[in-house]
Amino acid sequence: MTEKTSQDTSSQERVQERIQENMKNIAHKLLVISGKGGVGKTTVAVNLAFSLALQDKKVALLDVDIHGPNIAKMVGAEGTKLGALPDGKIEPIFVPPGVKVVSISPLLKNADTPVIWRGPLKMKLISQFLSDVDWGSLDYLIIDSPPGTGDEPLSCAQLIPDLTGAIIVTTPQEVALLDSRKAVNFARAVNVPIIGIVENMSGFICPHCKKEIELFKKGGGEKAARELGVPFLGRLPLDPYIVISGDEGKPFVIAQREGSAARYMSKVTASILKEIGEKTRI
Ligand SMILES: Nc1ncnc2c1ncn2[C@@H]1O[C@H](COP(=O)(O)OP(=O)(O)O)[C@@H](O)[C@H]1O
Ligand SMILES: [Mg+2]
Repeated sequence: MTEKTSQDTSSQERVQERIQENMKNIAHKLLVISGKGGVGKTTVAVNLAFSLALQDKKVALLDVDIHGPNIAKMVGAEGTKLGALPDGKIEPIFVPPGVKVVSISPLLKNADTPVIWRGPLKMKLISQFLSDVDWGSLDYLIIDSPPGTGDEPLSCAQLIPDLTGAIIVTTPQEVALLDSRKAVNFARAVNVPIIGIVENMSGFICPHCKKEIELFKKGGGEKAARELGVPFLGRLPLDPYIVISGDEGKPFVIAQREGSAARYMSKVTASILKEIGEKTRI
């Protein structure tokens, strides 16, 4: 081993130690991933976080989608800046009723600024979020990733030694199997336990005739879960209210607690908690 490499190794170990120390009071760390974009990862991550907060859990949301950070907008915190604490730590944005939020977007000059960074720089930012944010003690940290199996989820898998697991979001088409397989194989390759698959945009209730229409078919995510041997966590139908609530920055589990989308989400949240319970039972 050259001198430089051993130096690199020890500085990497120090980073890892700092992360471990800073995150030691977080009971569960969940990584939301998918094989491709636009399937509803951010929607699931945000509404999972808020449904857990409604159950009085201590929750934080970390957005590691460096190129397309949407979390701040989807929780109505666009324009709010991250704070700096006297001890040098980063203070998360607090979103009522009780979700701490951290993303790169509050650090950008404006929302249209593209982030043009290579992998190592992205890994550095993610590792700083993990080691320098004042997370405090949490029941759940939910990490929202960009699409695919690139640098960001890989950094999380490598930097967080005790990730509870990955939640894979997919859509119901047959081709979803291909995308889910990629995400499942990614998690397996980096030794992250798989919590299961959520099938999003699964069926659509016609607002006029109230019949269910299978716009993107139904059941692809469930079939993928079966074929890949991982738990199926439930489904969320296509629902115009989900788009509206996302665009308005009001998580639907908060804005329409008794609405149809919230009812489906509460089943997904319950399945996730059940799987976590089973995975972490001693
Ligand atoms: N079940 C759903 N019904 C209707 N629109 C949805 C649903 N899930 C997500 N969307 C919308 O689709 C778009 C992409 O969702 P998003 O959560 O940003 O996906 P990703 O994070 O995987 O790229 C958003 O505008 C979101 O509001
Ligand atoms: Mg997203």
